[in-house]
Amino acid sequence: MNIVVDDVHFTYATGGVALQGVTLQITAGERVAIIGRNGSGKSTLARHFNGLLRPTRGVVTIGDWTTHTHSVAQLARRVGYVFQNPDEQICKHRVWDEVAFGAVNLGVRGAQLRERVEWALARLALAEHAHVNPYDLSPSWRRRVAIAAVLAMATPILVLDEPTTGQDAQFVAHFAGLLDELQTLGKTVVVISHDVDFVAEHFPRVIVMDGGRILLDDRTECVFHAAEALARSALQPPQLTRLAQALQMPRFICAEEGFLHELRVDSL
Ligand SMILES: Nc1ncnc2c1ncn2[C@@H]1O[C@H](COP(=O)(O)OP(=O)(O)OP(=O)(O)O)[C@@H](O)[C@H]1O
Ligand SMILES: [Mg+2]
Repeated sequence: MNIVVDDVHFTYATGGVALQGVTLQITAGERVAIIGRNGSGKSTLARHFNGLLRPTRGVVTIGDWTTHTHSVAQLARRVGYVFQNPDEQICKHRVWDEVAFGAVNLGVRGAQLRERVEWALARLALAEHAHVNPYDLSPSWRRRVAIAAVLAMATPILVLDEPTTGQDAQFVAHFAGLLDELQTLGKTVVVISHDVDFVAEHFPRVIVMDGGRILLDDRTECVFHAAEALARSALQPPQLTRLAQALQMPRFICAEEGFLHELRVDSL
């Protein structure tokens, strides 16, 4: 199921122009990162994928449905969206119930519901917190609860708005493994992130937003090679890229494997 965004403009009721002609296609099963400075329109675009926001002009299509002709409840079968601020999403008093909530709304019950919730809890290392109130957890743990709740909905498309923000290195590594597992399951995953090092390591395609427009949309290496465009967008290339350039390595590097190869060191 593809995502097609065709010349989408969006203006908030306050008069703020957030998207100014965004066009992109994401193919079923792709893994794509969206980066860009604060206020560049990333979250506004993400909220168009599940119909929470509808274009002021232009069309968003998810498979054979447009977000104009289908409700948010219908689109929830196709697109799971994890909010940038998980507290906008969390409404239950027990982690288990919160993780089940979206799936229950899709009509999932009984053994299938238990199976999905337990799978999602395990994926987010939340099993031991299943019976606590999400608001007794730290904000970083609530973010994991919000991700688990969307995983349990088993949608073909997942849109995660800053999933690694505030997470420790162990969880970030675990989350990278989860991305691989989701890819094996054939899911489309769109992640919004400010962490260019994480993006460079784990995403083959990157979209850079700036001023409500797409500045770059290309293979990760090509995007991080475009240093001037990135600088205009208040972004720095990944740390490894800068280190490789400082060491005058002849090849362009943006991820660990290439860097180690240049050093002629076997991959860790
Ligand atoms: N609810 C809202 N009402 C009015 N304007 C908004 C609202 N949400 C965002 N905006 C404005 O829309 C523009 C795009 O904001 P958006 O949140 O999509 O950016 P972003 O790229 O996700 O930023 P960040 O990196 O800070 O999360 C900004 O100018 C912002 O001030
Ligand atoms: Mg945002």
